[in-house]
Amino acid sequence: MFPDHWSLLFGQIAFYSFLMLIVSGVVLTVYYEPSVSQVVYDGTYAPLRGLPMSRALDSTLRLSFDVRGGLLVRQVHHWSTLIMVAAITLHLLRLFFTSGFRRPRRLNWLVVFGLLVITLGAALTGTSLPDDMASGTSLAVLDGVLQATPFVGSALSYVLFGGEFPGDVISRFYPLHVIVLPVVLLLLFAAGAFLGLRREPAQYADGRTKTAKVAAVQGAGLFAFVAGVAIVMGATATINPVWLYGPADPAAVSAGVGPAWYLAFLDGSLRLAPGWEVVVWGRTISLAVLLPVGVCTLFLALVAGWPFIDERLTGDKRDHHVLERPRDNPIRTGIGVAGMTFYGVLWAAAGADTIAVQFHLSMNLLLRAFQVLLVVGPPAALFLTRRICLGLQQSDTAIAEHGIETGRIIRRPDGGYVEVHRPASVPTELPSH
Ligand code: HEM
Repeated sequence: MFPDHWSLLFGQIAFYSFLMLIVSGVVLTVYYEPSVSQVVYDGTYAPLRGLPMSRALDSTLRLSFDVRGGLLVRQVHHWSTLIMVAAITLHLLRLFFTSGFRRPRRLNWLVVFGLLVITLGAALTGTSLPDDMASGTSLAVLDGVLQATPFVGSALSYVLFGGEFPGDVISRFYPLHVIVLPVVLLLLFAAGAFLGLRREPAQYADGRTKTAKVAAVQGAGLFAFVAGVAIVMGATATINPVWLYGPADPAAVSAGVGPAWYLAFLDGSLRLAPGWEVVVWGRTISLAVLLPVGVCTLFLALVAGWPFIDERLTGDKRDHHVLERPRDNPIRTGIGVAGMTFYGVLWAAAGADTIAVQFHLSMNLLLRAFQVLLVVGPPAALFLTRRICLGLQQSDTAIAEHGIETGRIIRRPDGGYVEVHRPASVPTELPSH
């Protein structure tokens, strides 16, 4: 028997989009050339004809304009990435807000967190492959961040890019992207499935379950749905139009191009960092990059280690097989929403320039407002969420004691009016654990 609830499907959605990525990725490898050697473009897209560019971009443009169905496959690959990142993120949030990370499932949490980090790595290496101006800009930011590491920065950049930036990053990222990271992801999915099936899966208190046969048929349907969404999106919605960006150029900076939404929080943290500096052994070290890198690393470390932190804080070392509702644990839910607020402010700050231009606001004022929000927002979110959860608990108690309001008003013999309540239904099946 498997628990039956829509919120338990995000892991499956992530896996099905991963399958789509493998299938579309294999087709892409047939046409894509992972090389930075220069050629002059003479393909179908007239505005770029005659322009020198790498073979990587040249082959991506040919894939988009000259290979039948090539653009569709590229876009299905990209849309599947977005579905996969979103599904893993939602899966992690679901585990958090329902306490699905507690013993004996602490390892599951680490596996899902690992999936998220490796998928972000796969997405970053993938978007770098076309070698266009947008991906070149994000690699330039990455190079800047590495270079800002005190003492070893230049060496780190040299190792990653295989020489002085931009080096031959494509031939380094390509094997990572098509072999190493997908294999790691496959192993993580296998570990997740093994850990999930080793014992009965955790379920909600309503105890709704479905048989393995129903779960299998639903799974097949869900795969068809995920594939359908990725294909319809790929066929109708343009994504990553590299022909508009042109070839990467380390000496140029593209305006109005932002990072992919799943990496935007990192970019936002860079924008919000104050330009503080310290002098160590006669060397000036800028905190403008170190501070946001440190803060984001700490944030991710807290997320990764949450099951262990939670156990320390609550002292609860028992096994749990019944999931909680977010309102059942106001403080934990509050901490989750505080974390989301922190992430959300960083995320929004990555679009500060666009917001400033669109709404005719001062960029400096906007960044200052985001800085304040980053500090004030999370505790305020924790406080508010906790109050809302307590309010919901009170409403649950009122329903349990007095029943559900029916909206039917009757007049009493003494002339007063009362609303008729019907008794709240008692769950017919109690959880098996
Ligand atoms: C598993 C997770 C994967 C993720 C998250 C991912 C993500 C991406 C992304 C975002 C791009 C840029 C697409 C674009 O041009 O708009 C890309 C490009 C590419 N990917 Fe993947 N990919 C994955 C797996 C694979 C696999 C398994 C293969 C091959 C077996 C593959 C082959 C390629 C190739 C050849 C390109 C360059 C072609 C192009 O950019 O159009 N990918 N990938």
